[in-house]
Amino acid sequence: MPTIRDVAAHAKVSVSTVSHVLNGTRYVEPETEDRVRAAIEALGYRPNSVARSLRRRRTGTIGLLVPDNSNPFFAEVARAIEDAGFTEGYNLILCNSDGSASKEAAYVDVLLSKQMDGLLLISSGNRPDPLQSILRARVPVVVVDRRLDDLPVDQVLVDNEEGGYQAGRYLVQLGHRRIGCITGPSSISPSADRIVGFRRALGEAGIALPPEAIVRGDFQYAGGEAATHELLKRRLGLTAIFVVNDVMAIGAINVLSRAGLRVPDDVSVIGFDDIPQTRAMMPSITTIAQPIAELGKVSISLLLDQIKKGPKPPTRIVLPTTLVERESCRAIVRETT
Ligand code: RIB
Repeated sequence: MPTIRDVAAHAKVSVSTVSHVLNGTRYVEPETEDRVRAAIEALGYRPNSVARSLRRRRTGTIGLLVPDNSNPFFAEVARAIEDAGFTEGYNLILCNSDGSASKEAAYVDVLLSKQMDGLLLISSGNRPDPLQSILRARVPVVVVDRRLDDLPVDQVLVDNEEGGYQAGRYLVQLGHRRIGCITGPSSISPSADRIVGFRRALGEAGIALPPEAIVRGDFQYAGGEAATHELLKRRLGLTAIFVVNDVMAIGAINVLSRAGLRVPDDVSVIGFDDIPQTRAMMPSITTIAQPIAELGKVSISLLLDQIKKGPKPPTRIVLPTTLVERESCRAIVRETT
């Protein structure tokens, strides 16, 4: 493999001149630069990234750990992070924990061993262990989407409680009183916070959310289907269902339709996230939109600040959600009961 010395000899310049041409760290006469680039081309020289990383103590690489990269929400977040990171000269390594604490811990070890310049963590649950090993390693890290309270770390979140409140208030304003809910995994803070807000909105209107009207899901499509089957089995006469993420809402709509229930004519369905698929569905899905791209951009911006400027007191940023009205919900004549 040709080295930087071979290039310098071939172009009849010093090694430092070749380095300046490669890294743009100092002005080099155009004629000299052309000779260096011609030598690089002729020899097929490729800079040794490992050696460069050791010299700079930087790999130019960021790790992103997500619970389920097949979920369009996480794919959209990863996309926004990758775009912003690439613009700043960073590559992204995406790892999928599958919601498993053990897999998450294994990936954290791998990413730390590969000398990532920083990590972005969307936790598989509320377990702080993986984050604590990152903090012990003194590697820059930002927690995204799923809050990990009581830890001294930058966090970029969404106002999930307000988002749940928006969903509840919307259904109440449409006249619904017999309302069901499909939640996410109990250990996931966004799901729990959305239910708190949702209950608050119904409570303000004097509407109960009894235990039998709530079924736990798992944020997955099949989980949305199974939870909807369970709600139908209970014969509650629901006129509306709040599903705490869009992937499960798609599953719910498909089960309702196969059961002969029209959405929204018979049952209104509102989701959460605003993944692209909500626009493609028939009916298109009314949802509480997370600012997904902004979540990614703000997260990596905080991380690059840590990498470039060093540690500082932790920051918590909470981004707002917005109601996006589409076709899966409708007003009903308010029942007198
Ligand atoms: O759809 C996946 C869910 O998990 C989203 O609502 C997001 O907030 C994440 O926590």
